[in-house]
Amino acid sequence: PRTAAVIPAAGRGVRLGPGAPKALRALSGTPMLIHAVRAMANSRAVSLVVVVAPPDGAAEVKNLLAEHALPERTDFLVVPGGETRQESVRLGLDALPDDITAVLVHDAARPLVPVDTVDAVVEAVRDGAPAVVPAMPLTDTVKEVEPREKDEPEPVVATPERARLRAVQTPQGFDRATLVRAHETITAKGEGATDCAGMVERLGVQVVVVPGHEEAFKVTRPLDLVLAEAVLARRRA
Ligand code: CTP
Ligand code: MG
Repeated sequence: PRTAAVIPAAGRGVRLGPGAPKALRALSGTPMLIHAVRAMANSRAVSLVVVVAPPDGAAEVKNLLAEHALPERTDFLVVPGGETRQESVRLGLDALPDDITAVLVHDAARPLVPVDTVDAVVEAVRDGAPAVVPAMPLTDTVKEVEPREKDEPEPVVATPERARLRAVQTPQGFDRATLVRAHETITAKGEGATDCAGMVERLGVQVVVVPGHEEAFKVTRPLDLVLAEAVLARRRA
């Protein structure tokens, strides 16, 4: 089986604040995207990495890939992304060569995922699971609320049992045909999902969870940059 990793990196990073597109911002002097690309390419199972670049940033991303040392056994493709993560992922899937049978989808915004987590996801797919997500138990209790305008107190609707909840990360791993069918079906209905596995669930296909890793956190807000720099400093120590 040939496995490819699709890296959606076309987001602006609004929650991180003003600046370059999030994936192109530096962590410890290296663009977040390059960290994420390395995290995928360092898995021996991954033979191709497809980067979905900011819509007008494909040339810049190609230059970055050429500038930075990356494993030689891995192939790279760059395609421009879309308006939503879902659309960007679909554009990445459209670029896959025919011989790819398994696909990882990995957020550029999770630059520090350890290779063991990547390998665990790939292994579960190779063992026959059509959809695999790495996930972590929650530390906070979660409330479902009735959303209200800013600053208004929001009525609590329910408190799901924390022990049954998981926070999902990436890379999420899929049988290629299943993921493509999920995208086609959900997009045709004009629907969306916040992660790829959510689309596969709606097909009625069983998704399974494997252990995630705390270093696979998503860089979303400014404080996450502080944590990411600290993790990199600890790795260098
Ligand atoms: N993404 C993408 N195309 C989009 C939107 C998001 O490829 N149109 C990617 C982001 O680049 C990121 C991943 O999806 O790697 C997860 O999205 P998120 O963390 O929400 O990143 P942004 O959308 O860039 O951030 P924000 O929502 O704060 O603007
Ligand atoms: Mg976003």
